[in-house]
Amino acid sequence: MKSFLLTVMCSIWFFASWAQPNIIPKPTQMLVAKGEWTLGAKTKIGAPADAKWTKVAEMLAGQINKASGYAVKTVKGKGDITFALSSDTSLGEEGYRLLVTPKGVTIQAQTAKGAFYGVQSLLQLLPVEIFSPAVVNNVKWKVPYVTIKDVPRYAYRGLMLDVGRHFMPLDFVRKYIDLIALHKQNQFHWHLTEDQGWRIEIKKYPELTTIGSKRKETMKGHYGDHKYDGKPYGGFYTQAEIKEVLQYAEDRFVNVIPEIELPGHALAALAAYPQLGNNPDKIYEVGTKWGVYDDVYMPREETFKFLEDVLTEVIDLFPSKYIHIGGDECPKTQWKESRFAQDLIKKENLKDEHGLQSYVIKRVDKFITSKGRRMIGWDEILEGGLSPNATVMSWRGTEGGIAAAKERHDVIMTPNNFVYLDHYQADAKTQPIAIGGFTDLAESYSYDPTPKELSAEEAKHILGVQGNVWTEYMKTPSYVEYMVWPRAIALAEVAWTPTDKKDFADFSKRMEIHKKRLDYLGVNYFGAPINNKFEYAWPEKK
Ligand code: ACM
Repeated sequence: MKSFLLTVMCSIWFFASWAQPNIIPKPTQMLVAKGEWTLGAKTKIGAPADAKWTKVAEMLAGQINKASGYAVKTVKGKGDITFALSSDTSLGEEGYRLLVTPKGVTIQAQTAKGAFYGVQSLLQLLPVEIFSPAVVNNVKWKVPYVTIKDVPRYAYRGLMLDVGRHFMPLDFVRKYIDLIALHKQNQFHWHLTEDQGWRIEIKKYPELTTIGSKRKETMKGHYGDHKYDGKPYGGFYTQAEIKEVLQYAEDRFVNVIPEIELPGHALAALAAYPQLGNNPDKIYEVGTKWGVYDDVYMPREETFKFLEDVLTEVIDLFPSKYIHIGGDECPKTQWKESRFAQDLIKKENLKDEHGLQSYVIKRVDKFITSKGRRMIGWDEILEGGLSPNATVMSWRGTEGGIAAAKERHDVIMTPNNFVYLDHYQADAKTQPIAIGGFTDLAESYSYDPTPKELSAEEAKHILGVQGNVWTEYMKTPSYVEYMVWPRAIALAEVAWTPTDKKDFADFSKRMEIHKKRLDYLGVNYFGAPINNKFEYAWPEKK
């Protein structure tokens, strides 16, 4: 009996003192000790005298002050929460150490970016009220004693957003970037051009937006229902607005990758500049239905001139090393029928229309490379021969990614069965209309981006993983959130946490606490209590 009592008491002590903090993504190494340090009105945040580090410290102070009502200040050097430059190379560019002791908090990193990720973990060690946009009274701002060393599994941890099918306002784009950063993701892939809308101002070709950003109406229901809403729709971002987004993202250590689709998914551009298509006399209309259109760019010299001009403005605007050029779903129908395309195939000694697609991609790759950037394309760019500097985004499964890695090309894994967040996440009968497919939270979480088929050397070419968000059926920001969160959070853990630390049951438990943080952040995640307040979460019942 005595030993039983002892065991019970020991377990209570054990759980009280060793309960694992709810950090997502789960850190690489974490030790928790008994006790807590408490943040107070007099807490000072010390940071190295460097603009980037100071900004990180100020962002932390800002969040603390907003939620606590304190006026916590940042100072140079040592504080109660201290940021310190580390010379530990094992932390890499993005890793950090976080120490919480009776003396306070220390965040060590080699870079301000690593320190920023330390802050994300510190915020998740504090009570969930720290995420409140307004002062919450009567909270004890306790932080458990921990020692964390944390480095990401992959260098590329991304989330994409299609604003072509449905335009998303700037406030929402900023909130999306905030959530990317909170989960230690570092890439925002911004899909800016589509058949159904061109969304980025290009100064040299104003009609891309005056004409190409607007469609006369939008398809309702699924393909084949033949129903339209009869409502004009449009929207685009000016270059000045994009610059603001880029600064916002940079402050949160998120790189923004623009995608300009070619040679397919180009109908909105053809509506603006018909001379770039198969038939310059045709009246092209910006797409009103979803799916894949036969109308694609005709690879005349004039078209290359246009594409290079557009890419020049894009490259001048976006600092990203990577520029995405699409390359997916380009039907060859018009090239098969076109005298010009067939003559070009002969002249360039190409095998067929796939060879012609490869010719287009290679020319664009050469141009992007000449500007000191790297081209990314969807896995169709493998067909007809991979361009020398291309990075492949494997979406139709993992085969494209495996083939590219075996050819020693860099790869970002986005296989649709795991990472397509436009799929249903629960029984379709209970859900607002979506494109189809089924990928639930557990399936997204179960994904391992490094295919078993690769050797250790080949596997080095798997840069990471990304969630893809196609918005055909997501008309509003709220509905995007409903589809994206929490599946994108599962993918953030897939991208950051070592496989042996991954555990879905444990993730699900942490998610229950994390949802309270998302509630404070006003996120309409799947299963959120606020879902029912938004009638636009249920735009069209099936
Ligand atoms: C894609 O989903 N078409 C890349």
